[in-house]
Amino acid sequence: MKVVIAADHGGYQLAKEIEALLQELDVTIENIGSNCADSVDYSDYGIPAAEKVAKGEYDRGIVICGTGIGMSISANKVKGIRCALVHDVYTARVTREHNDSNMLAMGARVIGVDLAKEIVRTWINSDFEGGRHERRINKIAEYEEK
Ligand code: RB5
Repeated sequence: MKVVIAADHGGYQLAKEIEALLQELDVTIENIGSNCADSVDYSDYGIPAAEKVAKGEYDRGIVICGTGIGMSISANKVKGIRCALVHDVYTARVTREHNDSNMLAMGARVIGVDLAKEIVRTWINSDFEGGRHERRINKIAEYEEK
């Protein structure tokens, strides 16, 4: 699996931890975030990461900012992206099973490193269930085509 990661100044430290975890999981990664404490605009990083996933350059994306909210809003503006803002292990699993989320957003100021790692591990290893859930996400895709 190939995963693109992007974070702003609020999330770059957690992004480093997530990058190390994904390497342990044998996931191919590219970090296109700001990678430093200088104040930047999350949209400058979240949108390009989402575009890479939408174009198929990466299977999935993980975006991190202070709250995860700015990154999730930005990523979800890109056609074909289903970015889930997740701060617990249950929704990490269910958003893969039900929403086929192709991006994960987290807030580094909201949760700790260990929980974030467990969320990522769960999200990476959970699969879409299809069936009735496919019909639902297809309706989102149809709306995007209008
Ligand atoms: C930056 O201070 C902060 O606003 C940003 O990381 C994020 O939380 C926005 O949604």
